[in-house]
Amino acid sequence: MKGIVLAGGYGTRLLPLTKVTNKHLLPVYDRPMVYYPLQTLADAGIREIMVVTGGNNAGDFLTLLGNGKEFGLKELAYAYQEGAGGIAQALSLAEDFADGEPICVILGDNLIQGSIAKARRDFDQQGEGAKILLKQVPDPERFGVPTLKGKQVVGIEEKPKRPKSNYAVIGIYFYDAAVFDIVKTLKPSKRGELEITDVNNAYIRMGTMTAEVLKGWWTDAGTIESLHRASNLVARSR
Ligand code: DAU
Repeated sequence: MKGIVLAGGYGTRLLPLTKVTNKHLLPVYDRPMVYYPLQTLADAGIREIMVVTGGNNAGDFLTLLGNGKEFGLKELAYAYQEGAGGIAQALSLAEDFADGEPICVILGDNLIQGSIAKARRDFDQQGEGAKILLKQVPDPERFGVPTLKGKQVVGIEEKPKRPKSNYAVIGIYFYDAAVFDIVKTLKPSKRGELEITDVNNAYIRMGTMTAEVLKGWWTDAGTIESLHRASNLVARSR
Protein backbone atom coordinates (compact mmCIF):
# COMPACT_ATOMS: atom_id res chain seq x y z
CA MET A 1 0.00 0.00 0.00
CA LYS A 2 1.19 3.50 -0.85
CA GLY A 3 0.35 6.70 1.04
CA ILE A 4 -0.65 10.13 -0.24
CA VAL A 5 -0.67 13.29 1.89
CA LEU A 6 -2.71 16.11 0.33
CA ALA A 7 -1.21 19.43 1.33
CA GLY A 8 -2.30 21.82 -1.43
CA GLY A 9 -5.08 24.42 -1.37
CA TYR A 10 -4.86 28.06 -0.30
CA GLY A 11 -5.79 27.75 3.38
CA THR A 12 -7.94 30.87 3.11
CA ARG A 13 -9.82 30.05 6.32
CA LEU A 14 -6.54 30.68 8.18
CA LEU A 15 -5.69 34.10 6.71
CA PRO A 16 -3.52 36.04 7.53
CA LEU A 17 -1.52 33.04 8.88
CA THR A 18 -1.41 31.56 5.37
CA LYS A 19 -0.52 34.77 3.52
CA VAL A 20 3.20 33.94 3.31
CA THR A 21 3.27 30.21 3.98
CA ASN A 22 1.38 26.99 3.32
CA LYS A 23 -1.19 25.93 5.94
CA HIS A 24 0.50 22.55 6.45
CA LEU A 25 3.78 24.17 7.49
CA LEU A 26 2.16 26.06 10.38
CA PRO A 27 2.91 24.80 13.90
CA VAL A 28 0.56 22.44 15.71
CA TYR A 29 1.96 22.48 19.25
CA ASP A 30 5.62 21.48 18.71
CA ARG A 31 5.64 20.20 15.12
CA PRO A 32 4.74 21.50 11.65
CA MET A 33 1.19 20.36 10.78
CA VAL A 34 2.26 18.04 7.94
CA TYR A 35 4.34 15.90 10.36
CA TYR A 36 1.17 14.46 11.91
CA PRO A 37 -0.47 12.93 8.82
CA LEU A 38 2.95 11.68 7.65
CA GLN A 39 3.51 10.00 11.02
CA THR A 40 -0.01 8.49 10.92
CA LEU A 41 0.80 6.79 7.59
CA ALA A 42 4.29 5.72 8.73
CA ASP A 43 2.82 4.23 11.94
CA ALA A 44 0.50 2.08 9.80
CA GLY A 45 3.55 0.61 8.06
CA ILE A 46 3.23 2.68 4.87
CA ARG A 47 6.77 3.39 3.67
CA GLU A 48 6.22 4.92 0.21
CA ILE A 49 4.49 8.27 0.42
CA MET A 50 3.75 11.17 -1.94
CA VAL A 51 3.09 14.69 -0.68
CA VAL A 52 0.94 16.74 -3.06
CA THR A 53 1.27 20.47 -2.48
CA GLY A 54 1.03 23.75 -4.36
CA GLY A 55 1.30 27.52 -4.08
CA ASN A 56 4.40 29.64 -3.52
CA ASN A 57 5.95 27.61 -0.71
CA ALA A 58 6.12 24.15 -2.27
CA GLY A 59 9.93 24.15 -2.03
CA ASP A 60 9.73 24.50 1.74
CA PHE A 61 8.27 20.97 1.97
CA LEU A 62 11.47 19.57 0.46
CA THR A 63 13.56 21.64 2.88
CA LEU A 64 11.46 20.41 5.80
CA LEU A 65 10.91 16.75 4.93
CA GLY A 66 13.79 15.90 2.57
CA ASN A 67 13.78 12.21 1.66
CA GLY A 68 11.58 11.18 4.59
CA LYS A 69 14.41 9.47 6.52
CA GLU A 70 13.18 11.04 9.76
CA PHE A 71 9.93 9.08 9.36
CA GLY A 72 11.69 5.85 8.38
CA LEU A 73 10.37 6.03 4.81
CA LYS A 74 11.68 4.13 1.81
CA GLU A 75 10.53 6.85 -0.58
CA LEU A 76 9.11 10.34 -0.19
CA ALA A 77 7.86 11.76 -3.50
CA TYR A 78 6.37 15.17 -4.28
CA ALA A 79 3.79 16.49 -6.75
CA TYR A 80 2.78 20.07 -7.49
CA GLN A 81 -0.90 21.03 -7.81
CA GLU A 82 -1.52 24.16 -9.90
CA GLY A 83 -4.36 26.17 -8.36
CA ALA A 84 -6.68 24.58 -5.82
CA GLY A 85 -9.19 22.55 -7.82
CA GLY A 86 -10.15 20.31 -4.93
CA ILE A 87 -9.10 17.27 -2.96
CA ALA A 88 -9.95 14.83 -5.76
CA GLN A 89 -7.96 16.93 -8.27
CA ALA A 90 -4.94 16.89 -5.94
CA LEU A 91 -5.32 13.12 -5.61
CA SER A 92 -5.35 12.64 -9.39
CA LEU A 93 -1.72 13.85 -9.50
CA ALA A 94 -0.65 10.70 -7.64
CA GLU A 95 -1.85 8.21 -10.29
CA ASP A 96 1.59 7.31 -11.67
CA PHE A 97 3.07 7.16 -8.16
CA ALA A 98 0.33 4.74 -7.02
CA ASP A 99 1.14 2.52 -10.01
CA GLY A 100 -1.90 0.25 -9.58
CA GLU A 101 -1.40 -0.38 -5.83
CA PRO A 102 -4.04 0.28 -3.17
CA ILE A 103 -3.61 3.66 -1.51
CA CYS A 104 -4.28 5.42 1.77
CA VAL A 105 -5.03 9.13 1.28
CA ILE A 106 -4.80 11.53 4.21
CA LEU A 107 -5.62 15.22 4.25
CA GLY A 108 -2.64 17.27 5.41
CA ASP A 109 -4.73 19.11 8.00
CA ASN A 110 -6.20 16.03 9.69
CA LEU A 111 -4.78 14.83 13.03
CA ILE A 112 -5.72 11.72 15.01
CA GLN A 113 -4.82 10.48 18.46
CA GLY A 114 -4.69 6.79 17.69
CA SER A 115 -3.68 4.56 14.81
CA ILE A 116 -5.08 3.49 11.45
CA ALA A 117 -3.11 0.22 11.51
CA LYS A 118 -6.26 -1.89 12.11
CA ALA A 119 -8.24 -0.07 9.41
CA ARG A 120 -5.32 -0.66 7.04
CA ARG A 121 -5.30 -4.40 7.83
CA ASP A 122 -9.08 -4.56 7.37
CA PHE A 123 -8.78 -2.87 3.98
CA ASP A 124 -5.94 -5.22 2.97
CA GLN A 125 -8.37 -8.10 3.66
CA GLN A 126 -11.24 -6.37 1.88
CA GLY A 127 -9.04 -6.45 -1.25
CA GLU A 128 -11.07 -4.02 -3.42
CA GLY A 129 -13.26 -0.93 -3.29
CA ALA A 130 -12.84 1.72 -0.63
CA LYS A 131 -12.98 2.31 3.11
CA ILE A 132 -13.79 5.52 4.99
CA LEU A 133 -13.48 6.38 8.67
CA LEU A 134 -16.20 8.13 10.67
CA LYS A 135 -16.21 10.11 13.90
CA GLN A 136 -19.07 11.57 15.93
CA VAL A 137 -18.85 15.38 16.03
CA PRO A 138 -20.86 18.27 17.50
CA ASP A 139 -20.74 20.24 14.20
CA PRO A 140 -21.30 17.79 11.30
CA GLU A 141 -22.39 20.60 8.94
CA ARG A 142 -18.65 21.52 8.56
CA PHE A 143 -17.81 18.15 7.00
CA GLY A 144 -18.81 15.31 4.72
CA VAL A 145 -21.73 13.66 6.56
CA PRO A 146 -22.80 10.03 6.06
CA THR A 147 -26.40 8.89 5.85
CA LEU A 148 -26.47 5.65 7.83
CA LYS A 149 -28.75 2.61 7.60
CA GLY A 150 -27.65 0.63 10.63
CA LYS A 151 -23.87 0.42 10.23
CA GLN A 152 -24.08 0.82 6.45
CA VAL A 153 -23.24 4.16 4.79
CA VAL A 154 -25.83 4.68 2.03
CA GLY A 155 -24.71 8.15 0.94
CA ILE A 156 -22.55 11.14 1.90
CA GLU A 157 -23.47 14.82 1.74
CA GLU A 158 -20.77 17.50 1.67
CA LYS A 159 -21.37 20.20 4.29
CA PRO A 160 -25.17 19.73 4.47
CA LYS A 161 -27.28 22.44 6.09
CA ARG A 162 -29.38 19.71 7.73
CA PRO A 163 -27.02 16.80 8.50
CA LYS A 164 -28.60 13.32 8.39
CA SER A 165 -26.31 12.01 11.15
CA ASN A 166 -23.91 13.43 13.72
CA TYR A 167 -20.90 11.73 12.13
CA ALA A 168 -18.18 13.32 10.01
CA VAL A 169 -16.33 11.46 7.26
CA ILE A 170 -12.78 12.13 8.36
CA GLY A 171 -9.99 12.92 5.92
CA ILE A 172 -8.43 9.45 5.76
CA TYR A 173 -9.52 7.25 2.86
CA PHE A 174 -8.49 3.82 1.54
CA TYR A 175 -8.96 3.18 -2.20
CA ASP A 176 -8.21 0.53 -4.79
CA ALA A 177 -6.68 1.48 -8.15
CA ALA A 178 -10.12 2.27 -9.65
CA VAL A 179 -10.13 5.60 -7.78
CA PHE A 180 -8.20 7.35 -10.56
CA ASP A 181 -10.77 6.36 -13.20
CA ILE A 182 -13.56 7.58 -10.90
CA VAL A 183 -11.84 10.99 -10.48
CA LYS A 184 -11.75 11.35 -14.29
CA THR A 185 -15.58 11.17 -14.38
CA LEU A 186 -16.12 13.99 -11.83
CA LYS A 187 -17.52 17.46 -12.55
CA PRO A 188 -16.67 20.49 -10.38
CA SER A 189 -19.06 21.12 -7.48
CA LYS A 190 -20.80 24.40 -6.62
CA ARG A 191 -17.61 25.53 -4.88
CA GLY A 192 -15.71 24.82 -8.12
CA GLU A 193 -13.81 21.81 -6.79
CA LEU A 194 -13.51 18.10 -7.62
CA GLU A 195 -14.94 16.69 -4.40
CA ILE A 196 -13.68 13.63 -2.55
CA THR A 197 -17.29 13.13 -1.40
CA ASP A 198 -18.28 12.51 -5.04
CA VAL A 199 -15.53 9.87 -5.27
CA ASN A 200 -16.84 8.19 -2.11
CA ASN A 201 -20.45 8.29 -3.33
CA ALA A 202 -19.34 6.54 -6.55
CA TYR A 203 -17.94 3.65 -4.46
CA ILE A 204 -21.16 3.57 -2.39
CA ARG A 205 -23.20 3.26 -5.61
CA MET A 206 -20.95 0.38 -6.74
CA GLY A 207 -21.52 -1.33 -3.37
CA THR A 208 -17.81 -1.61 -2.54
CA MET A 209 -17.49 0.99 0.23
CA THR A 210 -17.02 0.02 3.88
CA ALA A 211 -16.85 2.32 6.92
CA GLU A 212 -15.38 2.10 10.42
CA VAL A 213 -15.69 4.40 13.40
CA LEU A 214 -12.28 5.75 14.45
CA LYS A 215 -11.18 5.36 18.07
CA GLY A 216 -9.58 8.30 19.92
CA TRP A 217 -9.81 11.96 19.06
CA TRP A 218 -9.77 13.39 15.55
CA THR A 219 -9.63 16.99 14.42
CA ASP A 220 -8.99 19.02 11.33
CA ALA A 221 -6.82 22.12 11.70
CA GLY A 222 -8.06 24.27 8.83
CA THR A 223 -9.74 27.05 10.79
CA ILE A 224 -8.40 29.26 13.58
CA GLU A 225 -10.61 27.44 16.07
CA SER A 226 -9.68 23.93 14.96
CA LEU A 227 -5.97 24.81 14.66
CA HIS A 228 -6.03 25.98 18.28
CA ARG A 229 -7.94 22.84 19.30
CA ALA A 230 -5.44 20.62 17.47
CA SER A 231 -2.52 22.18 19.40
CA ASN A 232 -4.33 21.64 22.70
CA LEU A 233 -5.20 18.02 21.91
CA VAL A 234 -1.60 17.25 20.94
CA ALA A 235 -0.26 19.01 24.05
CA ARG A 236 -2.57 17.00 26.32
CA SER A 237 -1.64 13.67 24.74
CA ARG A 238 2.14 14.21 25.13
O1 DAU B 1 -11.45 17.31 7.36
C1 DAU B 1 -12.36 16.40 6.81
C2 DAU B 1 -13.16 17.05 5.69
O2 DAU B 1 -12.23 17.48 4.67
C3 DAU B 1 -14.19 16.07 5.10
O3 DAU B 1 -15.19 15.77 6.07
C4 DAU B 1 -14.85 16.68 3.87
O4 DAU B 1 -15.72 15.74 3.29
C5 DAU B 1 -13.79 17.08 2.85
O5 DAU B 1 -14.37 17.72 1.72
C6 DAU B 1 -12.78 18.04 3.48
O6 DAU B 1 -13.46 19.25 3.79
P1 DAU B 1 -12.80 20.71 3.81
O7 DAU B 1 -13.67 21.66 3.06
O8 DAU B 1 -12.51 21.06 5.23
O9 DAU B 1 -11.45 20.52 3.03
P2 DAU B 1 -10.35 21.64 2.71
O10 DAU B 1 -10.75 22.45 1.53
O11 DAU B 1 -10.01 22.37 3.98
O12 DAU B 1 -9.11 20.75 2.31
C7 DAU B 1 -8.58 19.80 3.19
C8 DAU B 1 -7.18 19.43 2.77
O13 DAU B 1 -7.17 18.92 1.43
C9 DAU B 1 -6.21 20.59 2.78
O14 DAU B 1 -5.64 20.69 4.08
C10 DAU B 1 -5.24 20.25 1.70
C11 DAU B 1 -6.00 19.35 0.73
N1 DAU B 1 -6.37 20.05 -0.52
C12 DAU B 1 -7.52 20.80 -0.60
C13 DAU B 1 -7.86 21.45 -1.76
C14 DAU B 1 -9.14 22.25 -1.87
C15 DAU B 1 -5.51 19.97 -1.61
O15 DAU B 1 -4.44 19.31 -1.53
N2 DAU B 1 -5.85 20.61 -2.77
C16 DAU B 1 -6.99 21.36 -2.91
O16 DAU B 1 -7.24 21.91 -4.01
